[in-house]
Amino acid sequence: MVIQGNLSGLKASQIQALERIYRRRIPVDQVITPELARFLTERSFDMNRQVGVIIDRQGTVKHVIVGDDREIVIPDLSDVGLGRSGLRGLRCIHTHLKGEPLSQDDLTDLALLRLDLMVAIAVGEGGLPGRIHYAHVLPPGSGGKSVETLSAPSVHDFDFDAEAFLRALDEELERKIGETIDLSDLREKAILISVSQGARQETEDSLDELAELARTADVVVLDRVIQRPRQLNPKYLMGEGKVKEVIIRALQQGATLLIFDQDLSPVQVRSISAITEIKVIDRSQLILDIFARRAHTLDGKVQVELAQLKYIMPRLIGRGTALSRLMGGIGGRGPGETKLEIDRRRIRDRIARLEKQLAGLAKGRLQRRQRRIRAEVPIVSIVGYTNAGKSTLLNALTQSKVFTEDLLFATLDTSTRRLRFPMEREVIITDTVGFIRKLPKSLLGAFKATLEELEDADLLLHVVDLGNPRFEEHIRSVERILQDLGLDRISRLLVFNKIDLIPQEEVAPLCRRFTAIPVSARERSTFDGLLAELQHRFWPDDE
Ligand code: GTP
Repeated sequence: MVIQGNLSGLKASQIQALERIYRRRIPVDQVITPELARFLTERSFDMNRQVGVIIDRQGTVKHVIVGDDREIVIPDLSDVGLGRSGLRGLRCIHTHLKGEPLSQDDLTDLALLRLDLMVAIAVGEGGLPGRIHYAHVLPPGSGGKSVETLSAPSVHDFDFDAEAFLRALDEELERKIGETIDLSDLREKAILISVSQGARQETEDSLDELAELARTADVVVLDRVIQRPRQLNPKYLMGEGKVKEVIIRALQQGATLLIFDQDLSPVQVRSISAITEIKVIDRSQLILDIFARRAHTLDGKVQVELAQLKYIMPRLIGRGTALSRLMGGIGGRGPGETKLEIDRRRIRDRIARLEKQLAGLAKGRLQRRQRRIRAEVPIVSIVGYTNAGKSTLLNALTQSKVFTEDLLFATLDTSTRRLRFPMEREVIITDTVGFIRKLPKSLLGAFKATLEELEDADLLLHVVDLGNPRFEEHIRSVERILQDLGLDRISRLLVFNKIDLIPQEEVAPLCRRFTAIPVSARERSTFDGLLAELQHRFWPDDE
């Protein structure tokens, strides 16, 4: 058991005395024993430095720390996870040489590290323990406050049943968090953050889209934060104090993930992740995560994983927790530079392997395409802006008793179905990942990979959410992306979905204006026009 912190100039005997603290055990109902309190203040007096201990709920001393005359630096505690209530089950007790109350840094540490308690014992006359200042975190909705500060005149008057108090605090925290989130819900719970100097409306729109993306990635959005700094901070994007404030609020709300709408530089991801174990990702990573879920072909999967690894590599930090979500089995946890080096090396190896695999896959792609062409079944692919209702439409179209058969080609994937028409005719219909505005350039390759199957399509069904006031903008974005991907050579059919969301009399004029076919993916009775059009496009001679 080593003593941490500022040991320079200490005598061996002083260090040995501190080491003996590790042998002590504190009864579970006490915050600290009067004997240990006195030992700490005497050592502190003797060295003219703050001394601190980190104690767990069993009363075991986990860390002994020496600071300077103004502060101690709490070591990395991330090996101890947060409990259900969001507390870490560790308390920090330290000395204050001038009997000063808890500092802002003490309170920030308490809230950021989710400690059970932060306690400061005044070093009094001749090194005896004096007044005690202590604080604990508060549940969300405590009038905007995140911590409560209290004090007791002396360690003997510190009438405080730690066990009962912490049990009650745990219960209260769980109850309050449970009011807004379902604690048994294992999905990630995120705070969306935008740090922008752009126009307010643009920022809001972009956050709306980020929220849609989060939903697509199966992430629950708890809150949004908009920061409009005069200057962007190269290290934290926003100011350091503001970042901490946001993280403290996120912790209070039970968030597990921070998603920045702006792309973070590797330095920014590392700096922010160094403050908290809440995972920190940016828009590009979120999109990559969605691509990873949506990539169906082996080829697509390989490309997306490659893009993920390349994005993640420079953003890795020593702690190893920050990106574990996207790193899957590759990252692993655990602090330490050595571990980090191993991770880097493993990622580099994996990148090399994937690149090789990719080259080999091109051949399989050709064979697959030939097989499809031989089958002579027309292929229809559904494209559209994210949230347009593509998947709903695919399901509704193919679940309809008259037209479906849930039969898959062995080589096709789950987002591919057959759509049957009269006279033993059928088309293969496939769903694709939603299109997104402002797709970062570096992701275009991965995005293309998930859309690779579109190259085989005979017709693209461009589904539009007519209920979205910005639907025209969405149409333009999708068209532009199709153009970028060289897919505008394939014929398209514009489908206006969600017509149930707009006044009925507006539907027909809009459809005429855009040459579109109206449907509501939730109402099969609206599919006749679409089905007739498909039949007409593929088998015009039947009529
Ligand atoms: P991404 O996978 O994100 O690209 O979305 P998507 O285009 O596949 O959309 P999805 O099918 O997931 O539908 C998005 C939301 O719109 C869901 O909540 C659907 O229930 C809803 N939705 C789909 N079609 C309709 C419709 O015709 N009317 C209404 N009111 N809602 C619809």
